[in-house]
Amino acid sequence: MRKLNVGAGERGEGDVTLDLLSAVGPDVQGTATALPFAAESFDVIEMDQVLEHIPPAELGAVFEECYRVLRPGGRLEAWVPHAASRLNDQDPTHRSTWTYGTPEYFADGNFSWYYDDHDFEFDLVHREVSVWVLETAPASGIRSVLLQTAHRLFDWNDGVVYRPSVSGSVHFVLRKV
Ligand SMILES: C[S@@+](CC[C@H](N)C(=O)[O-])C[C@H]1O[C@@H](n2cnc3c(N)ncnc32)[C@H](O)[C@@H]1O
Repeated sequence: MRKLNVGAGERGEGDVTLDLLSAVGPDVQGTATALPFAAESFDVIEMDQVLEHIPPAELGAVFEECYRVLRPGGRLEAWVPHAASRLNDQDPTHRSTWTYGTPEYFADGNFSWYYDDHDFEFDLVHREVSVWVLETAPASGIRSVLLQTAHRLFDWNDGVVYRPSVSGSVHFVLRKV
């Protein structure tokens, strides 16, 4: 099993690691939109916390390249932060958002026709979403009552947007058809 790790960062493992940044020390410096490898040269591609850094208009090229370098039946395994997660919007380098349904845009099924002008065909063979609300309901309730009281007593007109701290990820596996 030959594994390519795309967007490997400093710690990613694989037979070959690739990253946009040479500073993180990949085996190969390059971009996911133009993988510098021969067709059908890997069994597995891993992308851990990488796809959210790719703008939507470039995602078609990324999946096309993964399809090209995977052997038939090969697997692309990805982890991305869930769109509801606070980490997802605090990072200014994030360019695309992912929820439970997003992998369906790159696999045979409901939404694959959006990327019809790209040459790839995958089956979605695994999908898992985990979302955690990190602040408990009682604590947020107390905070809400205090804010409402302050607003009434002091005619406090500042807008306050309270959002519970949510963390979560989407993990999915596509198989090259
Ligand atoms: C959040 S880090 C994740 C690193 C590693 N996979 C991990 O889980 O620790 C995202 C990595 O993707 C890389 N990256 C971003 N856009 C890329 C692209 N178009 N092609 C290849 N790598 C890219 C970044 O340079 C960075 O190292």
